[in-house]
Amino acid sequence: MNCRHIAPAFLLSILLPALSAPLLAQEPVHLSIDASRAGAKIDRNLFGQFAENLGHGLYEGIWVGPDSPIPNTRGIRNDVVTALRALKVPNVRWPGGCFADQYHWRKGIGPAAQRPATVNSAWGGVIDTNAFGTDEFMDFIHQIGSEAYVSVNVGSGTPQEAGEWLEYMTAAAPTALARERAANGHPDAYKVGFMGIGNESWSCGGDMTPDYYASQLKIYSRFVANLNPSQQGPNHMLKIAVGPGTPDTEWTETMMKAWQSHDWSWDFDGLSLHWYTVPNGWPPSTPSTGFGLEEYAKALKSTLFMDEFLHKQEAVMDKYDPQKKVALVVDEWGAWHAPLPGSNPAFLVQQNSLRDAILASLNLNIFARHADRVRMSNIAQMINVLQAMILTDKEKMVLTPTYYLFKMYLPFQDATSIPVAFDAGTYKQGGASLPRVDAIAARDASGKLWIEITNLDADKPAEISADVTGMQVKQAKGETLTAPAVDSVNTFAAPTSVTPKPVSAVVKNGRLALIVEPKSVTVISLEP
Ligand code: AHR
Repeated sequence: MNCRHIAPAFLLSILLPALSAPLLAQEPVHLSIDASRAGAKIDRNLFGQFAENLGHGLYEGIWVGPDSPIPNTRGIRNDVVTALRALKVPNVRWPGGCFADQYHWRKGIGPAAQRPATVNSAWGGVIDTNAFGTDEFMDFIHQIGSEAYVSVNVGSGTPQEAGEWLEYMTAAAPTALARERAANGHPDAYKVGFMGIGNESWSCGGDMTPDYYASQLKIYSRFVANLNPSQQGPNHMLKIAVGPGTPDTEWTETMMKAWQSHDWSWDFDGLSLHWYTVPNGWPPSTPSTGFGLEEYAKALKSTLFMDEFLHKQEAVMDKYDPQKKVALVVDEWGAWHAPLPGSNPAFLVQQNSLRDAILASLNLNIFARHADRVRMSNIAQMINVLQAMILTDKEKMVLTPTYYLFKMYLPFQDATSIPVAFDAGTYKQGGASLPRVDAIAARDASGKLWIEITNLDADKPAEISADVTGMQVKQAKGETLTAPAVDSVNTFAAPTSVTPKPVSAVVKNGRLALIVEPKSVTVISLEP
């Protein structure tokens, strides 16, 4: 039904019978949006992903090998590629994570039969065939239409090893390493958009002090170069330094102070930040299925801490870099729950529910509000690990609620954020006190206005009215993601329990009116 010409009151009278009166006996939420007030660009790289060599993230999730009965292209699963292409994944971080600081790239190139078997001591001590190495990763990136974010080994590697890896990937001149790449079937130099210099060097990456890491950072930044001729000058590869993983600011102070006094010989473009939603603290103990409203609310409360964390780190960055040249790169975030019963605990397998999609929306909204500094993020992780987009089991694949959430946010990639003023109200559940709603808005390149509204309240719908000034708005269209319960999941047997559905919204005299369902995420487009 096209609701464009229906008055809001009439529309509400259609929608309301489905929702009992007491349920709506809450203050309507009013949003004020001035479309002429452009904020920062919501960088498409905020919607990046993380694919570590961990559990079934790469092996089985992406790589099944060319001889597999599972349909594949050069060993990479076709179903997964099709699903990821639709998400327009801007960048993929690989090979870790903690794994990156033990990865020696030479073991993953050349004829598969000649690659050595190694032990993945970061994740479960399992045998790694090294079948999925640099050329396979680049093939995967190419197949899904994304960009490479490669983390080099600082913990157990050397600057020489990392420099040679970059040369293998990016040299166009006929150096010995470029010729080796060509002999492996890849004559053209690859592009590497982003290079992470180590991972969590304050912990699994070598337990370094900030000063020790800062010295390493300078050396790697100086001597590990991208040689691709098309990535020189303004298109240069962005170097990302290890940043904080706890809210204290000592690490950030040290890196930013060093950066402020850097000379021509070294630099970095981004500072990484890791923060997971672990509702009961470490070790992760919350079940990923079969939980109730209290656990739901606790998880959302815990995820909202991201905002405070970013503010703290940004205050330090602003002190040393008021022009915001260095981006904050949240290259690990997401819900970390207890391992699924029966799974290998080292493989970090968890289900993915409506709760996880809702908490992803809250994080993406926080990033959008910090978009002047936070210009890249990578949800952990892409497939079969932690808060995954996709789960696979042999030939089967299922798209998670978080996958659909990311799909709904596609219009926000590279859109210009527009501030939204609203009184969020309060949603109380168990011991947690949360905002009832959250919202962001942005304008895309074609001039369309996009509004996202999250209703955190698990029981009550929210009646939304939005006054839009600064542009003429006529037609509203949208989708909403919700499900019968906060712990609803998609399974191989029932893959579409949590999928977006069209939502009705009306626009009259510059005012948008709609009702958003309990525990839902809604994205509306408004055409000029
Ligand atoms: O994403 C799983 C792990 O979490 C990563 O390997 C590490 O960087 C972080 O501690």
